[in-house]
Amino acid sequence: MANIGVMGTGYVGLTTAVCFSELGHKVVGFDIDIKKVNTLKSGISTIHEDGMSELIVKNLNNDNLVFTDSINHISDCDFVFLCVPTPQDSDGSADLSYVIKAAKDLNKVIKKNAILVTKSTVPVNAWKDIVSTLQREDVTVVSNPEFLREGTAISDFFNPDRIVVGSLISSKAKEVAELYKQGNVTTIITDNSSAELIKYASNSFLAIKLSYVNEIAALCEAVGANANDVLFGMGEDTRIGSKFLKPGPGWGGSCFPKDVRALRVTAENNSINMSLLSAALESNEKTFRRIADKVEHELGNSLIGKKICVWGLAFKAGTDDFRDSPSIAVIERLIGRGASVVAYDPVVKKSNIESLKITSKIEESCSDVDAIVLLTEWEDFKAINPDSIKKLVKNQIIIDSRNILNRDLWMKSGFKYIGNGW
Ligand code: UGA
Repeated sequence: MANIGVMGTGYVGLTTAVCFSELGHKVVGFDIDIKKVNTLKSGISTIHEDGMSELIVKNLNNDNLVFTDSINHISDCDFVFLCVPTPQDSDGSADLSYVIKAAKDLNKVIKKNAILVTKSTVPVNAWKDIVSTLQREDVTVVSNPEFLREGTAISDFFNPDRIVVGSLISSKAKEVAELYKQGNVTTIITDNSSAELIKYASNSFLAIKLSYVNEIAALCEAVGANANDVLFGMGEDTRIGSKFLKPGPGWGGSCFPKDVRALRVTAENNSINMSLLSAALESNEKTFRRIADKVEHELGNSLIGKKICVWGLAFKAGTDDFRDSPSIAVIERLIGRGASVVAYDPVVKKSNIESLKITSKIEESCSDVDAIVLLTEWEDFKAINPDSIKKLVKNQIIIDSRNILNRDLWMKSGFKYIGNGW
């Protein structure tokens, strides 16, 4: 069993710390936010993630896991995972200030001959800045990007598609890979720069894929084809694959938009024009607009004075995260065109839009509205009986941007059902 330190207990850091402790390692989770540390110490998860609180409590109790706001507590750790944020800078590049600060702080703290593992998403060659800031020749910097999805982070940790570890010293990379105890999982041992790029290349590829999916849905709508069938038909080709083929109101979250922009900056800085990245971002903006257009179209081509109910604020189901959420992007457009919006989300109870009203009950959100727009694919919405709300709404119009509702059921109940691409 190894002694592992984790710097930063956000989505990535907390999942990493808790899951390594569940594997039997002795883990110290460090964060500068005292309030967060105290919450975690009391066994309460600071993120909405299935099963997280249970694992925290279990591993606090068996002493595999401790949380601290004192960096000195990680001085006994043989492995230190950097999981601090890399937000977007004003020019679209990744802001490395937290990573650099952490490396500086570790200079006097990190154990002799320890391995410093970068898990934060950092641009290609950032590992060189970390090495030069850390100024510790005895410490090896290893790049180990994460591929966890919010909402399924714990199961992704224990059942990864692959583990990527990059280092100039392959024996050190192997030591890091062994911490995961995933003997039968594809493990890619490579150099630091390639490991860093695998992360950006993967997220950006998925974003490009989704922009294409949403454009196909728009085309299906225009030509009278059924996007669900078209996308299913495409996905059956194993070269394409059936995952990540669902149309929606656009893609978002704390990773895709930021990573696509940061990769574009890296490419520009290296005189490579990755025009697909710009196209994917532009296409995503068009998707936000297209969903707002659909609502406007159904309401006589004007949203002025109209009241719209929105179901879903999270950027996808299973998370309380609404950072860069497509729902927020669509709502801003609806409000910008003169509508008032009332929203319901099973877990998100606040937003950054002042004029947006958020209700605590589904029924309340659709009272007297001109249309309902479903933007996040929560299971809760599938369970709604249209008969129970049809008397509450002003117009029986439902726009399902995720194609998750039972069209026949809603139509039978008297609603005009408008899907995405069918
Ligand atoms: C993404 C990657 O999937 C993870 O592998 C990666 O580790 C993570 O970013 C990160 O960089 O930390 P996440 O941001 O949690 O994970 O979200 P995804 O599940 O990838 O969804 C991203 C967006 O695509 C959401 O808005 C979602 O609704 C949308 N989406 C996804 C679709 O519209 N259709 C789909 O078929 C799938």
